[in-house]
Amino acid sequence: MAKRIQFRAHGGPEVLEYVDYQPAEPGPKEVRVTNKAIGLNFIDTYYRSGLYPPPSLPSGVGSEGAGVVEAVGSDVTRFKIGDRVAYGSGPLGAYSDVHVLPEANLVKLPDAISFEQAAGVMLKGLTVQYLLRQTYELKGGETILFHAAAGGVGSLACQWARALGVKLIGTVSSAEKAALAKANGAWATIDYSHENVAQRVLELTDGKKVPVVYDGVGKDTWLTSLDSVAPRGLVVSFGNASGAVDGVNLGILAGKGSLYVTRPTLGTYANNAENLQRMADELFEMIIGGKLTVEISQRYPLADAAKAQTELSARRTTGSVVLLP
Ligand SMILES: NC(=O)c1ccc[n+]([C@@H]2O[C@H](COP(=O)([O-])OP(=O)(O)OC[C@H]3O[C@@H](n4cnc5c(N)ncnc54)[C@H](OP(=O)(O)O)[C@@H]3O)[C@@H](O)[C@H]2O)c1
Repeated sequence: MAKRIQFRAHGGPEVLEYVDYQPAEPGPKEVRVTNKAIGLNFIDTYYRSGLYPPPSLPSGVGSEGAGVVEAVGSDVTRFKIGDRVAYGSGPLGAYSDVHVLPEANLVKLPDAISFEQAAGVMLKGLTVQYLLRQTYELKGGETILFHAAAGGVGSLACQWARALGVKLIGTVSSAEKAALAKANGAWATIDYSHENVAQRVLELTDGKKVPVVYDGVGKDTWLTSLDSVAPRGLVVSFGNASGAVDGVNLGILAGKGSLYVTRPTLGTYANNAENLQRMADELFEMIIGGKLTVEISQRYPLADAAKAQTELSARRTTGSVVLLP
């Protein structure tokens, strides 16, 4: 019997249960994977709390992992039993010994990348790929603002920006996190627990502000982000770590300088096997080429997923955290 984490009702980390379950047989276009490592992500907490509705209850948890193919459906063409694979998008249920996914959601894992690295980078690294290379295509030479720069997505963004020749100003909530962001390649940091972010951005950019702000913090940083972006610039609101941005009066975008706003998701960028593979190829090249290091800051047994989510929500984690089945 396999084990997984599930929840029957929405709530805090205490609703997560570690239970026996019988993994399904893969459908014709599905693959069953024995997980070797599983990624912890903030989005996992949104489904658990109910901010994002899961398709049904009880629900599995988690969207990121890496492992070995143990069974394939009759119409699967790209994978065979024994292949090393990784994934960073649904269906929910990655917090498990064994996970069944559509073939289109999987990529082959190069031998040079470990299961733990892959579980720490698939969802977060593919997100950075589309944020920096597609949502706003950075060319090098720009100065940008990226919130929560010591977190999972943020730590990878700092490194990717450095590799592109982009000056990333990262916000953080402590001196330790500032040092980490700097070590990962942030050009400057702002501690938003006591500094005025928009004012510091003005100073750091000689009054120009930035062409693009990447904001995964949401509610608490929304206005700061609008105040930090130059006229006709873009605010990329890609997450809700502090709560969802709502009740926006579009007039505020006019008042602050004909601003653009987008609310992107990984699912709409990696929306088919071809796009997913192209993005993953670029991500893997960055890792193998030594430009991106996936530091696993903490490891938890799968059974302790509730503890891991508690730490993530309390801002006590940095970089990538993995669960081990
Ligand atoms: N749209 C997409 O495609 C996509 C994909 C992946 C991730 N995301 C989003 O990207 C963001 C980062 O995800 P992640 O998994 O890498 O998480 P993370 O950055 O490791 O953790 C969230 C960080 O947000 C900061 N934060 C600010 N206010 C907070 C609050 N009230 N409560 C908790 N944290 C707060 C904390 O850093 P400080 O202590 O330094 O403030 C915290 O460490 C999340 O919003 C996530 O939903 C979006």
